[in-house]
Parts: sequence; structure tokens; C-alpha cells
Amino acid sequence: MTKNDAFLKDVNDGLSQNPKYISSHYFYDKAGDELFQKIMEMPEYYLTNSELEIFKEQSMEIIESFNIDKNQKFELIELGSGDGKKTQHLLRALLSQNYQFKYIPVDISTNSLEVITKNLENHFPTINIEPQQGDYFQVLDRLFTSNHPKIILFIGSNLGNMEDEVAKRFLSKISQNLKTNEKLLLGLDLIKSKEVVLPAYNDPAGITSSFNLNLLKRINTELGADFDLENFEHAPEYTEEEGIAKSFLKSRKRQSVYIKDLDQSFEFRENERIHTEVSRKYDDEVLKKLLLKSDLEISEKFLDSKNYFADYILTKR
Ligand code: AVI
Repeated sequence: MTKNDAFLKDVNDGLSQNPKYISSHYFYDKAGDELFQKIMEMPEYYLTNSELEIFKEQSMEIIESFNIDKNQKFELIELGSGDGKKTQHLLRALLSQNYQFKYIPVDISTNSLEVITKNLENHFPTINIEPQQGDYFQVLDRLFTSNHPKIILFIGSNLGNMEDEVAKRFLSKISQNLKTNEKLLLGLDLIKSKEVVLPAYNDPAGITSSFNLNLLKRINTELGADFDLENFEHAPEYTEEEGIAKSFLKSRKRQSVYIKDLDQSFEFRENERIHTEVSRKYDDEVLKKLLLKSDLEISEKFLDSKNYFADYILTKR
């Protein structure tokens, strides 16, 4: 199946369901990547700065928690490395302490891997870096072929975009691939009030709205659909009780949308929604439930000064 066949199938399946659903996985084309960069710079999107503060202030403590012998070579594998802005603080700390490691950034985007590699080589001329292109779910197996001890980084609360069942499977898969005492550094956004969380997903400048609506634009260009973007609106939701920010695209009126590549029309009622994203928030209890079927346990936790975000160190039993 080509990339576009999978997109076509998922759009067909998702729009045929009740309620309608399309995975946020498809947000990230070139325009989506650029919009997400803008989101990370928004004052309302506290996640980036909270985790950046942890890395800036506590990198030394974090690398100590890895519990790695300085003379032993190890691999630092980052799943979804993006721009590397946060990770560079960790890398600086490791290099300053003369740890022997190879940094392996994994990303779906070849372009972002090229940028991060160049940047890091400029900043840290002695760094040993080996980028790997691919969807991190799919490349996991081929990452675990060497015998060196491994530390996996999965930061930015990217786990939050997986439904709990998928997150459980993902964590189990990582756990199965790790050896005893190897670690996963997992960055998670914490459950907090609606007043803080909702604006991060509903900014007044409308960047998140464009990010969500870009999905329809993508279906128009790649699958020949005729979504009128004016007729849909970004509609996010969050309650502290549930702890999950959810994004929807809501139809402003009763309408029909035709998708040429499927030769099929889809009907929308007024106010009918397409569910496009989950962004789960966590606490220790929620995380422990996700870890039940894995051999990972929480060994340390690093918080920012507002207690908005946590970087957990999970150790394989
Ligand atoms: C990539 N991910 C962790 C972001 C989040 O917060 O769930 C994606 C995002 N969606 C809307 N704003 C940002």
C-alpha cells in the first residue's frame, strides 16, 4: 500500500464511522509541520517551555539518573527528534562529563533530520550522531540490533497523541526491546486545570485552528476532495476530570463533501464533528496503569517550577 492509499483508506473508514474520526497522524505534512513549529512558539502552548526549563535546569541530574558508567559506550535514541532544541541541553551535559555515547535521532521527516544533524555538528563538533529516518513505531525493531546499552528519549508529550490502548502497546514494545536497567526518558504533560490547558489548544491567534483545518486542506489536495474550509470550525474540549484535550472539526451547517479519489460523498449534519486528535494529560496513577503490562517502572521524575510537565525516568526491571 502506498502512503496515499493508506491515507485514502483511513479517511474513508473514518468518515464512514459514527462519530466521524481522522487520526492526528495526518496533521503533519509540510504546512502542518510549519504550523506545529508556530504552535510551539505560542505563549499559550506552555508544554514546550515547561519541558525546556526541565532540560535547561536539570540536565545534570537527568543524566545521573541514567546510571551509566562513563567508560561504557551507550546509545541515546530519540524517537521523534524534531528540532532538538530541548535535547541539546542534555547532549551538552553528557559531552561536558565525557560520556561515551552515540546520539540516534529518529524522525519521519528527512528534512528535519538533516537540519538537526547540521545544527548539532556545528554546536558540538565532537558529537557522534547517526540519524535514522522512519516512523518510530515501525523502526523500533531495527534500532535494537547493537549490543550497547540504550537510553530511549520520547519527550514533548508525544505519547499523549496515542489512545491509551495504543500507548500501552507502544510502551510494552519499548519495554520488550530494552534490557534490564536500560531506561526510557518519557516527557509527559500533567493533568491540570482547564484554564491552563484549553488555551494551549485554542489560541486567540487561530494557529491551532489552522493546524486542525489543514487536515481538510490536505484531503482536498491529496485526495481531490471539495471541503470548504469556511464551513468547518476548530472545536477543542478539555475537562480536568477526564484529563484529555480533544480536538474536533465541527460542521457549521448541513452539507455534503465529495472525495474524487473515492468517488464518494459524505454527509454532515449541522454541528456534526470529526474527531481529529487526543492530547492526553497524565499523573503517576494514569502512567502506572499504562505501564501495567510492561516491565517498566518509574524510577525518577523531574518537574518544572510550575509543576505543569514531568520528565519521567522509567527503568526496565
Ligand atoms: C505533538 N503533540 C504533543 C501536540 C499536543 O500537544 O498534543 C500536538 C498539538 N496539537 C494541537 N496543538 C499541539
